[in-house]
Amino acid sequence: MERVVIDQIASWEGQQVELRGWLYNKRSSGKLHFLQLRDGTGVIQCVVFRDEVTPEVFAQCDHLGQESSLRVRGEVRRDVRSPLGFELSVRGVEVLQAAEGYPISPKEHGVAFLMEQRHLWLRSARPHAVLRVRAEVLRACRDYMDRGGFTPIDAPIFTPAACEGTSTLFETEYFDQKAYLTQSGQLYMEAAAMAFGRVYCLGPTFRAEKSKTRRHLTEFWMIEPEMAFCELAEDMDVAEGLVFHVVQWVLERCKSELRTLERDLAPLEKVRLPFPRISYDQALAQLKEKGSDIEWGQDLGGDDETLLSFGYDSPVLVHRYPAQVKAFYMKGDSQDSRLALCVDMLAPEGYGEIVGGGQREDQLEVLEAKIAAHGLPREAFAWYLDLRRYGSVPHAGFGMGIERVVAWLCGLHHVRETIPFPRTMLQLYP
Ligand code: 4AD
Ligand code: MG
Repeated sequence: MERVVIDQIASWEGQQVELRGWLYNKRSSGKLHFLQLRDGTGVIQCVVFRDEVTPEVFAQCDHLGQESSLRVRGEVRRDVRSPLGFELSVRGVEVLQAAEGYPISPKEHGVAFLMEQRHLWLRSARPHAVLRVRAEVLRACRDYMDRGGFTPIDAPIFTPAACEGTSTLFETEYFDQKAYLTQSGQLYMEAAAMAFGRVYCLGPTFRAEKSKTRRHLTEFWMIEPEMAFCELAEDMDVAEGLVFHVVQWVLERCKSELRTLERDLAPLEKVRLPFPRISYDQALAQLKEKGSDIEWGQDLGGDDETLLSFGYDSPVLVHRYPAQVKAFYMKGDSQDSRLALCVDMLAPEGYGEIVGGGQREDQLEVLEAKIAAHGLPREAFAWYLDLRRYGSVPHAGFGMGIERVVAWLCGLHHVRETIPFPRTMLQLYP
């Protein structure tokens, strides 16, 4: 008998097949059991009619607990009333393991409880839909990079130095030295860009974020492209191209997931190229008009980002922040030495910063001075300084936070639902 997965069921109409999965839900009435079977690709209703199976099989179905693992055989029948369009008319059921007392019932549970049960919660419809969207976001990213001639280069996780400031470093023992979990693959991508031209990494990064906001994880994933012979304007082109591609990809391929999540598609469908670009100074003027008390020289806070994004249908690129609020590696603006040639992209609907990047300081002496001014240990950056010693060129890149993008696309309140096993200040289990 043919083993089939549920999302391929349409091509098996009228045939006998075997499905393998878990019992999602069950309803019974005298002569009938309705088993909702899920197999990871979908959910199908399996109808067990007393007269069509052995008495043992029918009796066994009486006591089957939620999430029991099953092999079910039967005939695929068209059924216009089911969301799938098909159901299975059952001839045989084999129970691999009879589960009892599954802790997540179809009734409502609080997020705190569900997060403790994350290893099981992944099976439920909502998390399942979110993680399918995440998988497509990652696929879309790789697709865009492949088409753009970028070579994937993996960055290390253990590092000897800070990339994004020393206040959020996770320190760990590394034999007789100290190591830090990477905050960003950027510095390594700069080295790789000088070897390959256009490169990117895509992997986990770590920040000891003490903030318990809905936008921060301690372990999150970033895609970080880096390009040799590239300045800020082109960097912004690539960032908006990537984000636009991801949005279109998800709109095209994740319709049923977004429906499960009850995501309003209208705001996503309004995203258009080119994205608006405004300077920090313009952003500040807009914010003041909207009632923010932000002063020149301050970084935009989460609330400022939200306020600003409400003025736009597409993500907005804010460039040239004051250098004093940005990382040491940013190149200064030759037009105004107070500014850095950097860019943040703010998602619509109040989702805040999804991309951060910019042009890198490419002059040896200037970079050395910045490392000193930021109080960073020179020895740890000796290799990085070499990149300015041997064939330095203008170069730029950015990091796009996968979880922030998934949260926006799925319309979720908190980024912790966008990663299979979230890590926050308050969560390390499971
Ligand atoms: O703006 P960030 O800190 O930039 C960098 O790390 C650069 N070195 C990237 C580069 O130029 N190659 O982080 C980039 C993005 C943010 O825009 C945000 O989307 C995400 O990473 N991000 C976080 N996502 C979840 N939790 C956190 N704690 C995050 N911190 C940053
Ligand atoms: Mg940033």
